[in-house]
Amino acid sequence: KELTFKDAFKDQFVVGVALNTNQVAGHDPKAIELTKKHFNSIVAENCMKMANIHPREDHFFWEEADAFVEFGEANNMHIVGHTLVWHSQAGDWIFVDEEGQDVSRDVLIERMRHHIQTVVSRYKGRVKGWDVVNETILDDGSWRQSKWVEIIGPEFVQMAFEFAREADPEAELYYNDYSVSTPAKRDGIYYMVKDLIDKGVKIDAVGLQGHLTLPSPTVDEMEQAILKLASLGVKTMITELDITVLPWPSEQVTAEISLNYELEEKYNPYPNGISEEANAALMDKYRDFFEMFLRNSEHITRVTFWGVNDSQSWRNNWPIRGRMDYPLLFDRDYHAKPAVADILQMT
Ligand code: XIL
Repeated sequence: KELTFKDAFKDQFVVGVALNTNQVAGHDPKAIELTKKHFNSIVAENCMKMANIHPREDHFFWEEADAFVEFGEANNMHIVGHTLVWHSQAGDWIFVDEEGQDVSRDVLIERMRHHIQTVVSRYKGRVKGWDVVNETILDDGSWRQSKWVEIIGPEFVQMAFEFAREADPEAELYYNDYSVSTPAKRDGIYYMVKDLIDKGVKIDAVGLQGHLTLPSPTVDEMEQAILKLASLGVKTMITELDITVLPWPSEQVTAEISLNYELEEKYNPYPNGISEEANAALMDKYRDFFEMFLRNSEHITRVTFWGVNDSQSWRNNWPIRGRMDYPLLFDRDYHAKPAVADILQMT
């Protein structure tokens, strides 16, 4: 029998993938085939974000999220809701009144409560866990000065978890963030989660977004973050896993390109396919990380890739246009890359 991610790791953690609405709607049948074959968990890439699911104060748009949840149920999957409260993709209306002025603290708390409880109760008992709050701690460990913090204060986090819990007491509740392996940020998140626990707030797990680059973080840095968070008694999850093979563009490069788009080509190092060398480094990094996930599997409940295959990845064209990336384990032809066979034999 052919090895698959979900079978290989069934005694350790569920293995998931982010799906976009195009795929759920059936326009990318090969991606759906791979999803059904390999994965037992899904997360919505965009359709459950506030701006998508709640584009105006008096209007929820359910169609895409409903289809996503139905797909997960039909395939017996562990469904993850992403994300209830985030500074990004939040929709323009939520923070302001009709004149465009910031709303009061009470109004924003009430809007947040209404949003969380409407969405969570619609999928009560069907969505297994929610990314309740996404990305509210900065790399230096301080609070991101988002409108949530500015208008409500850091207590918005505790409130969000409590609202979600009221709406579905059985759902798992998560905090999710990127660069958690950066020590100052890791510690900031540690103390935020510790504070929630000390106050009796239910939090089940912390999601470490796995938007990695070839040089960083190292296996050791990510392992330290997992162990530190797990010492609080919460589980961890590797969410949003992808490994870019492209360099982060300097500000100068970004500025140059904004003046002359023809320069984009210069910063697209692998327009016709990744080099053997870069691919070898990518495969090594994936193997090393999966070995680490495996030896820490008592603390890890889920590993989720941020996309099925390279052609669908958000890493293409980001943060500058015109670049092709190769960050996932299935290539543009939907073929498994060489590391897949090794990873599936690790257990
Ligand atoms: C990204 C999606 O992949 C893109 O399609 C969208 O344009 C922007 O958001 N951290 C998160 C994810 O928590 O929701 C982001 O997803 C990637 C970074």
